[in-house]
Amino acid sequence: MKSNLTANELRNMYLDFFRQKGHKVISGASLIPENDPTVLFTTAGMHPLVPYLLGEKHPEGKRITNVQKCVRTGDIESVGDATHCTFFEMLGNWSFGDYFKEEAIKYSWEFLSSDKYLGIPKERLFFTVFEGDEDAPKDMQSYNVWRELEVEDSHIYFLPKEDNWWGPAGLTGPCGPDTEMFYDTLKLNCSDYCRPGCSCGKYVEIWNNVFMEYNKLPDGTFEPLKQYNVDTGMGLERILAISNNVGSIYETELYKNIIAKIEKISGQKYNEINKKEFRVVAEHCRAITFILGDERGISPSNADQGYVLRRLIRRTVRYLKKLGVMRSAVSDIASIVIEDYANTYPELEKNKEFIIGEISKEEQAFNKTINQGIKEFNKIVNKIMESKKISSEDAFRLYDTFGFPIEFTMEMGEEQGIEVDYVGFEKKYKEHQELSRTGSEQKFKGGLADNSVGTMKLHTATHLLQGALRKVLRADVSQRGSNITTERLRFDFSFERKLTSDELKKVECIVNDAILQGIEVKCEEMTVTEAKEAGAIGLFDSKYGDKVKVYSIKDYSKEICGGPHASNTKELGVFEIMKEESSSTGVRRIKARLR
Ligand code: SER
Repeated sequence: MKSNLTANELRNMYLDFFRQKGHKVISGASLIPENDPTVLFTTAGMHPLVPYLLGEKHPEGKRITNVQKCVRTGDIESVGDATHCTFFEMLGNWSFGDYFKEEAIKYSWEFLSSDKYLGIPKERLFFTVFEGDEDAPKDMQSYNVWRELEVEDSHIYFLPKEDNWWGPAGLTGPCGPDTEMFYDTLKLNCSDYCRPGCSCGKYVEIWNNVFMEYNKLPDGTFEPLKQYNVDTGMGLERILAISNNVGSIYETELYKNIIAKIEKISGQKYNEINKKEFRVVAEHCRAITFILGDERGISPSNADQGYVLRRLIRRTVRYLKKLGVMRSAVSDIASIVIEDYANTYPELEKNKEFIIGEISKEEQAFNKTINQGIKEFNKIVNKIMESKKISSEDAFRLYDTFGFPIEFTMEMGEEQGIEVDYVGFEKKYKEHQELSRTGSEQKFKGGLADNSVGTMKLHTATHLLQGALRKVLRADVSQRGSNITTERLRFDFSFERKLTSDELKKVECIVNDAILQGIEVKCEEMTVTEAKEAGAIGLFDSKYGDKVKVYSIKDYSKEICGGPHASNTKELGVFEIMKEESSSTGVRRIKARLR
């Protein structure tokens, strides 16, 4: 293996390899997609190239190769393990209606295994192939090519759509079966079912070849594309860690200086015990710097990309506090990212002042909110010197009135040997829902226009909105009417006064937070009594027959409802309140949309 490879050598080796195979090198696109409403960020190299996958002519021809900066927030909870990032670089090669499975797989194999290139030992490489279903056949072609390359049968797995199908984050667009390549870390199998694609970390996905031959339509069906395309993506950070023979991406040169800076700031050495905190801070600082430093740079805000950025900065501050760093330090770490990447990504150096300025402003503002919460927390602690127990009332008040996250209360309690009545807190939370239910006697006049994807999403957003209003205003806010068109939702609810802009912002934030978390919208069938017991809100008449459907979105919402709904909150995009006004005495009206 090429063990001393640097990131830059790897980028060049990849681009040169595909240049030799007749590909034109093009530059990567901005992190902020243009004309693509399906995603907030460029999450893969394919986004900027969708028109060419659909058949438009690319000015550089049919074979393209590039390095694309990507942001994927879906993996945020995994950040801190050896390989997952919110920001990463993807090396890619593209065929727009030119070569297909055979060449693509052979190129990948050569690049991975040949000593001229990465030279990864063949016994460490594993592959997965699409097993087939009602939409597309079992991918025997890919399997046969791997076998022809003398890959052993025991190194190839057939897996279903969840594993071996790639399409855009939005619901529609070019997609197809893929074959994925994995590196065996030689860790022990986590269970009898451990195999490539298992999330335990034994097998690391390093490259994906997608064979885009379908277009997914809004009705969920797949139509053949005009041409057979190839879209491949290889994770730069992961390959570097593997070829450098280090245990995680944080041990590569890409993170060395960043980790050293965090050591200096925190006065701690990066070790087994604090590695999660170090890694989250390092990883997020890199993402923050790239988002702010993008050609279409954006500022922290309460919507769209700005909101993701805000969350990343706040999460970093939280993890820095875990490392005992109380002062503003994110911008200091960002300076190192800028220095390290300035040669490859000159936009960072160019936008340096903006990056540092925006981080500083945001960090200070957030520290102020958190500090208020901490003050209140300390008052409570003084009150409970003897019992050393924070009651559910206090925990709930911190959460409800001060916007202080329950995890902060839990974590700070733990640090001081104080118990937090979390079970009571949860109960309180549910009680409030219960209260609100008895207040809800009005009929749900669902004005759901039709079952199109857009209205379905707005319907899910309506549930989240109601949940958020109950959290921000009062638990007994109840629905007085709902109407959805293709453009917007309209929600009437009981409340006696105009909402402040701060309250509206909070409501938006909660809904967007639920969206960003990518929560599954669960539907269960049960009797009305069971639904009541489960704490669902909504109407308890027999309108829906004996059994009712209860839709729940984690602890954001649980409602009796006929549906239909989006299957996951991540499909919703960005929630935006357009207007808040009076509807009639004691009833307010909100109009909102999804973007
Ligand atoms: N689009 C595919 C992926 O992101 C391959 O580039 O995995």
